[in-house]
Amino acid sequence: MPSVYFSSKPTAMGLSPLSLSFFLILFHFHSTLSSSSPPPLCAHHQSLSLLQFKQSFSILNTSREDQYPKTESWKEGTDCCFWDGVTCDLHSGLVTGLDLSSSMLYGTLHSNNSLFSLHHLRKLDLSSNYFTRHISSRFDQLSNLTHLNLSSSQFEGQVPSEISHLSKLVSLDLSKNSFASLESISFDKIVRNLTKLRELDLSYADMSLVVPDSLMNLSSSLSSLRLRYCGLQGKLPSSMGKLKHLRYLDLGSNSFTGSIPYDFEQLTELVSLDLSRNTHLSPEPVSLYKIVQNLTKLRDLALDSIDMSLVAPNSLTNLSSSLSSLSLRGCGLQGEFSGNIFLLPNLESLILYDNEGLTGSFPSSNFSNVLSVLALSDTRISLYLENDLISNLKSLGVMLLRNISIIRSDLTLLGNLTQLYSLDLSNNNLSGQIPSSSLKNLV
Ligand SMILES: *[C@@H]1O[C@H](CO)[C@@H](O)[C@H](O)[C@H]1NC(C)=O
Ligand SMILES: *[C@@H]1O[C@H](CO)[C@@H](O)[C@H](O)[C@H]1NC(C)=O
Ligand SMILES: *[C@@H]1O[C@H](CO)[C@@H](O)[C@H](O)[C@H]1NC(C)=O
Ligand SMILES: *[C@@H]1O[C@H](CO)[C@@H](O)[C@H](O)[C@H]1NC(C)=O
Ligand SMILES: *[C@@H]1O[C@H](CO)[C@@H](O)[C@H](O)[C@H]1NC(C)=O
Ligand SMILES: *[C@@H]1O[C@H](CO)[C@@H](O)[C@H](O)[C@H]1NC(C)=O
Ligand SMILES: *[C@@H]1O[C@H](CO)[C@@H](O)[C@H](O)[C@H]1NC(C)=O
Ligand SMILES: *[C@@H]1O[C@H](CO)[C@@H](O)[C@H](O)[C@H]1NC(C)=O
Ligand SMILES: *[C@@H]1O[C@H](CO)[C@@H](O)[C@H](O)[C@H]1NC(C)=O
Ligand SMILES: *[C@@H]1O[C@H](CO)[C@@H](O)[C@H](O)[C@H]1NC(C)=O
Ligand SMILES: *[C@@H]1O[C@H](CO)[C@@H](O)[C@H](O)[C@H]1NC(C)=O
Ligand SMILES: *[C@@H]1O[C@H](CO)[C@@H](O)[C@H](O)[C@H]1NC(C)=O
Repeated sequence: MPSVYFSSKPTAMGLSPLSLSFFLILFHFHSTLSSSSPPPLCAHHQSLSLLQFKQSFSILNTSREDQYPKTESWKEGTDCCFWDGVTCDLHSGLVTGLDLSSSMLYGTLHSNNSLFSLHHLRKLDLSSNYFTRHISSRFDQLSNLTHLNLSSSQFEGQVPSEISHLSKLVSLDLSKNSFASLESISFDKIVRNLTKLRELDLSYADMSLVVPDSLMNLSSSLSSLRLRYCGLQGKLPSSMGKLKHLRYLDLGSNSFTGSIPYDFEQLTELVSLDLSRNTHLSPEPVSLYKIVQNLTKLRDLALDSIDMSLVAPNSLTNLSSSLSSLSLRGCGLQGEFSGNIFLLPNLESLILYDNEGLTGSFPSSNFSNVLSVLALSDTRISLYLENDLISNLKSLGVMLLRNISIIRSDLTLLGNLTQLYSLDLSNNNLSGQIPSSSLKNLV
């Protein structure tokens, strides 16, 4: 950066306003020159394919702030390598990446679409658009793809088994297409052929015909597996431990039954485990205890609405010090839950509500003061709403304490919780005044 652009008398920011604007003008001029002087990078046939792709869709304006029509900037006669969302290989000028997420595209992606002639694509992101109808089997033409994201794009019908030809895929996301489904045979092909997968997300696709045991044969390089709300049923696979690099596992909102296999304790890299809302899942106390002991990197654990009536709540409090969120809503927990949970230094969210048999008396002091969500409604936990507690809860945004046992309450202290945006103190027979004027963030 040539020093001549800088003022000889630097301001506090190092640049005087005048020299800064000079600099910006010069910089702009410079970059305009350098991008217009060489011949276009973009290969002509690639440019044509992209323009045809653009023409096969209309723009659906939903007035959503997070969307904008990237393809509007695509103009004939300009270098396609500089178009919004397009990435080229700098040497060959071939299109290797297309990121058109949230681009308001509306229409059907037919098998004859020129997209499928962009054979050099490595990364393709079409998420959050409005593609009516099926996922074309012609995606298999894009054999160099390493990343494919078709999430939230209103695809429906069977996921074609040809997806399994994309054997270089490292990341595959077909999630949140509510009317998509995956046959058992297609899933088995994906499992067998996509051996490089590190991320797989098929959430919300109907996989009710897939045998859960086939999950065990997934690529052992898998680091993230999300199969939320897929209609999976039966026992959890007995040797998930093979997937030893898993960091994120989400099998929530399915119909798994039985216990949590012992083998889960070998998933020692797990950062996030979600088995929520598998209402017939009933973990054995011992296997849950071992999970808690062994998964030392766990940050998020969600086991809402699974049957934990046999589990001693205290066995769940000895969690990894990295734990940031624990959610055990509506688990039928019975017995005492130790206040030690609050000693976890990184605990941000504690959700225990709807466990009517859960008792315990939470301490006023020694809280992790990063707590932002505390939801204890409809339990028998007692809490002392007093100075020590309040001074420890300064970052609290959500406090749900309906129908618990609040002892020695000084409601004026609530005025100190200035970050609160959601507060429920109903059914507690409290009296006194809440200084609502200081609760400016309350929604
Ligand atoms: C979408 O509609 C809104 C309001 O109707 C308008 O302000 C905005 O410019 C439109 N966006 C596009 C990309 O057409
Ligand atoms: C592509 O296929 C669709 C449906 O089969 C057809 O309606 C459309 O005209 C075809 N487009 C081109 C460019 O051939
Ligand atoms: C696919 O990738 C390989 C290896 O990088 C390369 O040699 C080949 O030309 C690519 N094929 C296409 C169609 O881009
Ligand atoms: C796919 O796109 C969605 C929406 O843009 C994004 O949230 C998600 O993280 C992407 N998936 C992967 C695996 O990167
Ligand atoms: C697996 O991928 C290879 C390409 O690497 C392909 O030739 C083969 O047909 C695929 N097999 C299945 C079952 O999809
Ligand atoms: C897993 O793969 C092994 C061999 O690769 C095979 O014998 C077994 O049947 C597969 N299991 C499932 C459930 O697909
Ligand atoms: C914990 O993880 C280790 C691997 O890191 C594994 O060998 C062991 O069997 C697991 N279970 C227990 C209870 O330690
Ligand atoms: C908690 O974990 C530590 C270390 O893993 C262990 O020594 C201790 O016995 C555990 N306490 C309970 C109550 O399980
Ligand atoms: C309050 O909680 C108790 C259990 O702790 C439960 O039996 C009762 O129905 C709850 N009352 C209301 C009004 O929710
Ligand atoms: C709570 O903190 C106080 C002062 O820091 C300390 O003396 C006490 O031992 C702590 N209690 C627990 C249960 O850690
Ligand atoms: C609450 O706020 C008042 C006035 O802002 C202050 O005097 C008091 O020390 C605070 N109490 C706690 C527990 O933070
Ligand atoms: C509510 O509290 C008052 C005293 O503040 C007490 O007289 C009354 O019995 C309590 N009611 C219930 C239902 O606990």
